[in-house]
Amino acid sequence: AMTTVGIDAVEIWAGKCKLDLPGTFAPAKDEDPDKYRKGLGLENSSFPDVYEDIVTMGANAAKRLMEREGLEPDDIGRIDVATESAFDNSKPVSTYIAGCLEEVYEDDFHHANKGERKFACIAGTQSIDDAYNWIKAGRNRGRSALVVATDTALYARGSSGEATQGAGAVAMLISEDPDLVELSTEQGYGSADETDFLKPNQQFPSVDGKRSMQVYLARMREAVEDFESVAWDMHPEDFTYIPFHTPFPGMVRKAGLLGYRHMIRDTEIEDDLAGEIGRQPREGEYEDWDAYEAAIRDYMDELKGTDRYQAWYADTIDPTLSIAREVGNWYTGSVHVARASALKAAAEQGRELAGEKLLVGSYGSGAQAEIHAETVADGWKEEIAQLNIDDQLEQRYDLDFEEYEQIHDVHNHDMTVDVEEFTTPEGEFVFAGRGRMNERL
Ligand code: CAA
Repeated sequence: AMTTVGIDAVEIWAGKCKLDLPGTFAPAKDEDPDKYRKGLGLENSSFPDVYEDIVTMGANAAKRLMEREGLEPDDIGRIDVATESAFDNSKPVSTYIAGCLEEVYEDDFHHANKGERKFACIAGTQSIDDAYNWIKAGRNRGRSALVVATDTALYARGSSGEATQGAGAVAMLISEDPDLVELSTEQGYGSADETDFLKPNQQFPSVDGKRSMQVYLARMREAVEDFESVAWDMHPEDFTYIPFHTPFPGMVRKAGLLGYRHMIRDTEIEDDLAGEIGRQPREGEYEDWDAYEAAIRDYMDELKGTDRYQAWYADTIDPTLSIAREVGNWYTGSVHVARASALKAAAEQGRELAGEKLLVGSYGSGAQAEIHAETVADGWKEEIAQLNIDDQLEQRYDLDFEEYEQIHDVHNHDMTVDVEEFTTPEGEFVFAGRGRMNERL
């Protein structure tokens, strides 16, 4: 039989502080809380405490994953870190994380290949692809790959992006015969040189927020078409869940509607809806492209209000957003949090998903989208039951606005700010100071 390769285990580590967006941030900015709750779809952003950074969050997620899977360093042949928050232009963050892990294991990771992947938020998925290829090529010597997606997604204060911050890490084990999901061989890409979001030698991104949303949708659309050219014409009922990269849930609302519109074209669903909202505009029916686009927008506005679409959205997309609503954007980890949210929701409802399909829409600014399918594996329920993310979210320290500004300064590598920690670390890796090793308490 053909070997299946995919995600065997997943762990999530949320930054230990939170900023209440409708409750604390909106009033401080003199904004309507509904911009967050209803517009962006966000309740809280997660922030790292003063002793957390991309290394500690990634290492803590990886350690918990290794412990509960009973793994030793010898079981892992490669460690890749995906991040857009790296502080070192030479040494990959994976060396720092391996260094932390070596303090708690008797053996070391000298045998393991280490690297760092960068393409904005899509790098986590690219690292999984690298691991997949490495295993499929037979180079893994029976070992698994550890992929860590870790970011502190902070924007300059006063910029539009400040509304969509977040911090956390996702650790994933990529193996043969995985317990969680198997990856499809087929992939679709949409990739172009874009300048809507970038950080050339700077700490915070330069971002054209509105344009970044257009670029997300344009590249995602190309990736869908490219995927269909190697896989099949997709239908809304093909997928139990569709986790997308989630900079904020409102973005996924737009991507979901566009995807649905695409998938129902020339299907019985379009026919069924025709009596209510008409058929989709066809390009040839309009004088020019602008008129056609305007007609499509009107059609989508109508489509959004139909019971049929709303039921599909509630079943297929909304369950992917429950963690994102509480943590904001985690950049590279975000799409992997979306997958975990959906599987967690299914487990809580007692559903059986083994053999069902997910469609995963990853995206990175700059810009590239990737689409692939996944098949839920037999061990998914036991695996997802191990997550303790609800407890982590519950235990976060609720920052007031002034404390938020202090934390923001600390993570802007401002060495002049001296801020007391808000929470107490417990048996975890902590940042011990610049130029010193991360150490375990
Ligand atoms: N009640 C209900 N809804 C409200 C509201 C209210 N009182 N006030 C505002 N809204 C709605 C708005 O209508 C809008 O929704 P629509 O887009 O559907 O119209 C939404 O809330 C946001 O409001 P604004 O557009 O006024 O918000 P903003 O000007 O602060 O900009 C943003 C939002 C552009 C996303 C900004 O937060 C930003 O720049 N974020 C960073 C960039 C980003 O996340 N881009 C996403 C695509 S790129 C990507 O995905 C990669 C990545 O991770 C960065």
